Amino acid sequence: MAATGSVRLGRTGALRGELAVPGDKSISHRALICNALARGEARVTNLLESADCLSTMACLEHFGVEFERDAAAGAVIVRSPGLDRFAAPLDTLDCGNSGTTMRLLAGIGATLPFVSVLDGDESLRKRPMGRVLGPLAQMGAYTKGRDGGRYAPISVATRAGRLFPFRGKLSVASGQLKSALIFAALRAGAESEIEEVGPSRDHTERMLLAMGADIARYGAIINVRPGAPLRPRDLQVPGDISAAAFWIVAAAITPDSDLMLPAVGINPTRAGVVDALRAMGADITLERERDVSGEPVADIRVRYAPLSGIEADGDLVVRALDEWPVIAVAGAVAEGPTVIRDAEELRVKESDRIASTAAMLRALGAEVEERSDGLRIAGGASLRGGVVDSQGDHRIAMAAAVAAGIAEGETELRGADSVAISYPEFWRDRERLGVGV
Ligand code: S3P
Repeated sequence: MAATGSVRLGRTGALRGELAVPGDKSISHRALICNALARGEARVTNLLESADCLSTMACLEHFGVEFERDAAAGAVIVRSPGLDRFAAPLDTLDCGNSGTTMRLLAGIGATLPFVSVLDGDESLRKRPMGRVLGPLAQMGAYTKGRDGGRYAPISVATRAGRLFPFRGKLSVASGQLKSALIFAALRAGAESEIEEVGPSRDHTERMLLAMGADIARYGAIINVRPGAPLRPRDLQVPGDISAAAFWIVAAAITPDSDLMLPAVGINPTRAGVVDALRAMGADITLERERDVSGEPVADIRVRYAPLSGIEADGDLVVRALDEWPVIAVAGAVAEGPTVIRDAEELRVKESDRIASTAAMLRALGAEVEERSDGLRIAGGASLRGGVVDSQGDHRIAMAAAVAAGIAEGETELRGADSVAISYPEFWRDRERLGVGV
């Protein structure tokens, strides 16, 4: 996303009361895409209508899928002819800033008897697509991409006949890669065995299973048998833990805070931010744990408590994947150093998040060492206002806003508009929380 819009940010007070965070971005993409695969109609409530999810909707419309808004009920109705009757797109599918849109739709497009061309913005064109196109080509799909298949624009289609099943290990622990291959495997000629290298978010598996797909997990292997008909499914999207993370950290580091975030998804493949912050000493409780549309959900209560640094690596890095910029803010003010390892994947997100997180924290007075696979944050910083460029990355913009909330003096944040990618109401919510809800 273009880094436009500059805002001036001051300190926020204690965060108290209750705030409903928007619907989960990953689950919203999947609620749209999985329902588009099935013929018929489904109602999705609390869908996140951020720029990324609107990109998914616009792309699906090119295949003949329709959306209708029921504003009174806070729902979007997905109406699809079913995958077998998808229309050939007349135009390029513009995925905007959304890696999820491009990678998941690449898996679906690879099973269709016509060419789908997918493109995106400047940031998306820099992100690796070979990790998806390689295995799809192995399955016998037609795939092309700029620079030898490495980058967007990309094009995909099936060749004559069915795809071969995928039997192998994923090259990286990625929810997007895994989902693309699961979608392709649903239409392969035989059973696929997709082996994960590490646990990544499992929303696709949960949703497809509930819709009737023949999909099962045996340890690290996901077994997909093609052919089972998919039924459309009404869904309620839980609150986004990746959006909640900004307020969880803000409350955890701002004295006197006591904040309640109702109905947030706490899927174990996503809730690493809670574990990381608890390990730092944060006072977080999960209340009224329950199941919403096949996903675990809880009300999250956060109270201020002094934090200490941690060392994070391995699975925790993936389970808190998008939250490291804001966890790093907690690390900057915690006592003692915080070290993040095994996080090379952060370099290929909407920005190079190892570099952009380090630059953001340094601009606000923290001491940070950038490493090839992560960060070492000295801790104990007294943050002071400065000039931060989000580099067009929504999560850097929001993490900077959390840091600015406890910094001495004013912060100028450039590229503040980027929050529209995942959290369009972020600035309104910050203002609400800043004055007490
Ligand atoms: C997502 C998966 C993650 C995450 C991204 C959303 C998804 O990327 O960073 O914001 O919805 O599948 P990976 O593919 O690296 O897991």
